[in-house]
Amino acid sequence: MIDALNRLFRSTFDGPPDLIARAPGRVNLIGGHTDYNDGFVLPAAISRQTLAAARRRDDREIRLVAGDLGNAQTRFSLAEPIVSDQREPWSNYVRGMADGLLGAGLDLPGADIAIMGDMPQGAGLSSSAALEIATGLALSALAGEPHFDRTKLAQLGQRAEHQFAGCNCGIMDQLVSARAVAGAALLIDCRSLDAQPISIPDDVVIMIVHSGVERELVDGAYNDRRAQCEAAAEHYGVKALRDLAEVPEQGKLDPLAWKRARHVITENARTLEAASMLPLRTLSRLGELMAESHASTRTDFQNSVPAIDDLVALIHDAIGSDGGARMTGGGFGGAVVALVDKGALDRVQKTVLKRYRTPSGAPPLVMIERPASGASLL
Ligand code: GLA
Repeated sequence: MIDALNRLFRSTFDGPPDLIARAPGRVNLIGGHTDYNDGFVLPAAISRQTLAAARRRDDREIRLVAGDLGNAQTRFSLAEPIVSDQREPWSNYVRGMADGLLGAGLDLPGADIAIMGDMPQGAGLSSSAALEIATGLALSALAGEPHFDRTKLAQLGQRAEHQFAGCNCGIMDQLVSARAVAGAALLIDCRSLDAQPISIPDDVVIMIVHSGVERELVDGAYNDRRAQCEAAAEHYGVKALRDLAEVPEQGKLDPLAWKRARHVITENARTLEAASMLPLRTLSRLGELMAESHASTRTDFQNSVPAIDDLVALIHDAIGSDGGARMTGGGFGGAVVALVDKGALDRVQKTVLKRYRTPSGAPPLVMIERPASGASLL
């Protein structure tokens, strides 16, 4: 991919880039929709990633080319207020990062940037966070700040989503893309932003299966869920649902908001328990926690879809006590994540390829992963 990226850069902008930044996608093992409730998540970075090749310009223009989108090009100026763009919406993540870095006081120069990645679209593996972190890192390095604080970079990525892309997401995707540690998942406390590496034993693999149901136009449903959680927290008089250890009586709270809250409160507890089980390799208990997480997602949070439920059930049966599976990511399509004992992987993978078909009738894309490291300059 690096050769292809260099070729794209040279053919678009003439000459070589000054630097290349990479940022990984992520898969969340457990802790769905807990991040924006100040709760706990347990994601890992994956080998699929986004690369940004960049070179300083002498003016204040940012010029972009996207190799994955038919070499689409766009540009904007740092000398004028940066606004989102409807024609090339993918560029909004980069616009948001440039705007955020300027706001953080960096002396950003103009730049030519070529972008390329190998993340499957619509799989819910956070290609947008990887794009934010890769381009944010490239821009900060061009501004002479290659060690710009990674947590701050993640926060600017989240801000770009809120202000330039219209998704009121939490901090998980950006934080793990920026700060992941190879071989480990990160137990993130989304209130303090403390991120503790939780090592994943060598003989446990992460299997990701793309359902083929693409996540599309789901920001509205996502923002609705977030608003329901915030309404529930307000109803119970706490800052965030994180502050409730037990599921309270429904009382006068709207039934849907109560269900959303029940998911979040129980999910936080499951996430903490899973983080303590993972290094011990207690796969049967991890499998139970993942199954409970998926059931809660389906019935209380109501952001799964039938194809994903079928896929989770199928993987669950094939795995038995050798691991577990649940939907990962924002929901309404995308991928299923499974933790699988290496010895059972072949059996599970064969079952999935034989028995699951995407909506177009094809066998699913199966990715076998070990946790990757966070963003870096190559
Ligand atoms: C999306 C968001 C994250 C998180 C997950 C659900 O990936 O970007 O912040 O809320 O959904 O866990």
